[in-house]
This record gives sequence, C-alpha cells and structure tokens, in this order.
Amino acid sequence: MATMTAQETIDDIRQRALAQLDAAATLDEAIAWEREFLGSRGEVTLFLRGLSALPPEERPVAGRGGNALKQELGAAWERRHAELASADLERRLADDAVDVTLPGRPTDLGAAHPVSEMIDELSEIFALLGFQTVFGPEVETAHYNFDQLNIPSEHPARDVWDTIHVDLPGEIVLRTHTSPMQARVMEQTEPPVRVVVPGRVYRYEAQDASHEWMFHQLEGLAVDRNITMADLKGTLAEMARQLFGAERRIRFRCDFFPFVEPGVDFAVDCALCSGKGCRVCKGSGWLEMGGAGMVHPNVLRAVGYDPEVYSGFAFGLGVERLVMMRSGVDDLRAFAGNDLRFLRQFARAA
Ligand code: PHE
Repeated sequence: MATMTAQETIDDIRQRALAQLDAAATLDEAIAWEREFLGSRGEVTLFLRGLSALPPEERPVAGRGGNALKQELGAAWERRHAELASADLERRLADDAVDVTLPGRPTDLGAAHPVSEMIDELSEIFALLGFQTVFGPEVETAHYNFDQLNIPSEHPARDVWDTIHVDLPGEIVLRTHTSPMQARVMEQTEPPVRVVVPGRVYRYEAQDASHEWMFHQLEGLAVDRNITMADLKGTLAEMARQLFGAERRIRFRCDFFPFVEPGVDFAVDCALCSGKGCRVCKGSGWLEMGGAGMVHPNVLRAVGYDPEVYSGFAFGLGVERLVMMRSGVDDLRAFAGNDLRFLRQFARAA
C-alpha cells in the first residue's frame, strides 16, 4: 500500500468491494461483506482513519475520494441487501407454502379389537338364547377362583391352572379362568340363572403360538330345574352354527374339571373342510373350543342351591381361539402384539 497513491488505494478497494458484493449470494455473505469494508474495522473506515498520516496537501482529495467511496459502497450495500432479503423472503414463503386446495389428510379411525368384536358377537348370540352378559373381577380371591369351584387348597387340581399370585400366601390371585363368576353370580340370585361372562384370564405359562399369560374366556352358566346335558349340547351347537354356519356339529369328549360332573371338552367340526381334515384343524376335522359339563353338586351346595332341586350346565371357551378358527390366525401372540398391520385386517369400514 505504501507504493499506491491514495487514489489508487480508493480504486483498488472500490473494485474489489463491488466485485465481492456482486458475488454475495446470501444475506449472510452480504452482512459479512459489510463488516469487511464498512464496519468499524473495515477497509474504508481504516482508510479514512489513515488520512491524517498523509501529507497535508493530499488530504482534501483523498478525504473527498474516501467519503465518496464510503457513500457509494453504502448505497451498493443497501441495494444488494434489499435484493437478497427479498429473495430470502420469497424462498421461505415458497418453502412454507400451504396449498389450501389439497384435500385434507384423513384421520385414522379406530376400530374394535377382533377379540372385543368376537365378545360382542357372542354376547348377542347368547342374548337371543336368554343369557345375560355380566363381568367379574380379574383380581380374584382363591376362595372364588378355587374353593367355591370344588378345588380345595391341597387338591392337586390347583396345579392345573398355572396361577399368578398377587400376594403370599396366595389368597389373592389373577383369575385363571372366568369360572369364579359362577359362584359370584349364584350367590347373588335365585335360580333360574343364565349368564355369560366374557373377560381376561391370566396364567403363568411360557408363551408360544398357542399360549399367552393373558387371554380371554367366555364362561356360560345355566341353572334351573331339569337342565340336562342335552341343553348344554344344544346351546353350544347353536352358538357354533351362528358363528361358523348352519352345518356345524358339536363333539363332546370326557374330560375332568372339579366343578362339573360329568365334564367334557367340546369341539366344533371344522368349517373349512367340513370335518375332513385340513390345515386349520390340523388334519383332525375338529376344532377344540373349551371345557364344559354339568355343574357339580358341591358347587351348587356351596352357594346354597339344593342340588336335588336344581341342575345346571357350565362351559368356558377361549375367545382368541374362536377368532383364530374363523379368520385363520395361526399365532395367539398376534392379538396382544399391537401390530397395526394385523389389527387393520379386522377393522370394518365405518
Ligand atoms: N374353567 C375351565 C378352564 O378354564 C373351563 C370350564 C368352564 C370347564 C366351565 C368346565 C366348565 O379350563
């Protein structure tokens, strides 16, 4: 710089500054430019401050030139800054633009869970057969879960239900079946009794495709004079026909439950192959639905019913199982797995 005259310095600054300002593509770059040339430590400012070092005769010309440069660059900066600011605003407006003519996004409508739907359907079927739907506690006493069902505390049958205990020594449990409601309902009413009890039950079991620690049952109980096993079979057959078609048949096989005598497990012939054997029934032609039987005299006695006067039937079926049969679901864990792709297949259009 020492070799440049004041005018040369002004021209040099001017040329570089204008070229650089032209090249500034963003607001940030323009602001940096302003600091570089016009700021308190900018080149123009430093030049004007350096005037006093010049020989007195050169100062007026250099001073005028310097001030003119300052004004020229200031005006150039104003223009460029305004240009870039409006371009910036345009860009942001375009980026954030909302097309008000686009159709709105549809909200996802919820739908009943397939298990809830099956419970509703069963309640309707049984309502037409004269059964009332009632609900009971999931946290239950051992008294209702076992004792009232003819399962005394030292009886090995207790081990059949892999019980989740809530307290020690085990007076409070998560109900292992919906059967405790048999006694609760009978204690509250005089015969005739006709109820179904849907709800969650809990078992301490290793999970696999057909076992979960929580699932749903639907209990049925009918007590009156002259109720027989034929009523039980007819009731279950009617339910199977409503669910799976008019051709369905019910099979009883001997089974043991302490609260029924005689006791059975019951199955429906496979609707898919009409009992010939297929993938869904695993070649057997039958689909297991649950346990049933005639209410044990001890159970009637425990709630103050006279077994000489009254008789009844009871059954308990797995609700998930019914959905699995009807919809060909092959893994029980899908129901509580919360995978929307699975659940959406059951959602009915509103
Ligand atoms: N409570 C039994 C179970 O969960 C099923 C059942 C209910 C059996 C009613 C007979 C009568 O295994």
